Amino acid sequence: MRTIAVANHKGGTGKTTTAHTVGVVLGNRGYRVLLVDSDPQSSLTLACGVASTQGRSLANVLGGAEEGELSLAEVVRLLSPGLDLVPADVGLASSELGLMVRMGRENVLKEALGEVNGRYDVCIIDCPPSLGLLTVNALTAAHGVLIPTQPQIADLRGLGLFLLTIARIQGGLNPGLETIGIVATFYDRRLIHHRRAMKSMRNASLPLLPTTVGRSVRVAESSVTSETVVTYAKDNPRAQEYEALTDEVVGWLEKARTGSPISLHQLSRRMQVGRQRSARIEQRSSTFAQMC
Ligand SMILES: Nc1ncnc2c1ncn2[C@@H]1O[C@H](COP(=O)(O)OP(=O)(O)OP(=O)(O)O)[C@@H](O)[C@H]1O
Ligand SMILES: [Mg+2]
Repeated sequence: MRTIAVANHKGGTGKTTTAHTVGVVLGNRGYRVLLVDSDPQSSLTLACGVASTQGRSLANVLGGAEEGELSLAEVVRLLSPGLDLVPADVGLASSELGLMVRMGRENVLKEALGEVNGRYDVCIIDCPPSLGLLTVNALTAAHGVLIPTQPQIADLRGLGLFLLTIARIQGGLNPGLETIGIVATFYDRRLIHHRRAMKSMRNASLPLLPTTVGRSVRVAESSVTSETVVTYAKDNPRAQEYEALTDEVVGWLEKARTGSPISLHQLSRRMQVGRQRSARIEQRSSTFAQMC
């Protein structure tokens, strides 16, 4: 099972929509997909049509200061063939607080996911808009991170900080973490400030994916009926863009599948490279913030 965190500490960048839609498209293409809602707002859970967790959510698996009382498999909901969900509820907010005092607090989600490793091809974690322990747990459990970002100068300042967080995690907690890429969401090429923001990201050599996702009211409408734009309005350009984004995710998944297993030597080398990147990004992110 390959795990993808969809993350950005900025709110409203399309994380939940991206996690849900890419998950549905992967499911349609025959992958066995587990969606994990790691946000106390429970947006992904609601978008999947689960109105109540009835005390069986990710919070009951993670626990808090004490271990959770349920295993991950016990809270999984079957959504459709090939697509399952670990739902969230507001209890996750208390979990996050409680975890602060727990030994190995950054690895709790990774350990919980270990139980279902062989059952799925892909796990997609929808992260909350923060850099707290829930996001750190997701980034520690993940093999890859996908970063939805609105191409706005104000958002780019925070993006430097988020990339720095990733580099720090690569330098310690999770040397194997790869950046799948930044996907520009709500993109409108007619807007000069959007084009400027895209140019700034390219000039700073940030890992910007070729696919962009534009704005459409159909995307927002689709979530109301617990659908995604790919089924709700499949001829809408946004549906095609999400298909193209999934192609890029599949490219990353397949590259990892055919790659050779990582040795201990490679692992320690990656940690070293992660630390060096972390130092470089620290420098670049302050320059990047000034450029913006
Ligand atoms: N491409 C789009 N076009 C129009 N509306 C969109 C698009 N993508 C997402 N939305 C809508 O924008 C809102 C925010 O999107 P979403 O919930 O995916 O962002 P988020 O990053 O997960 O937010 P949060 O940080 O609060 O978790 C939602 O109402 C969603 O339906
Ligand atoms: Mg969200």
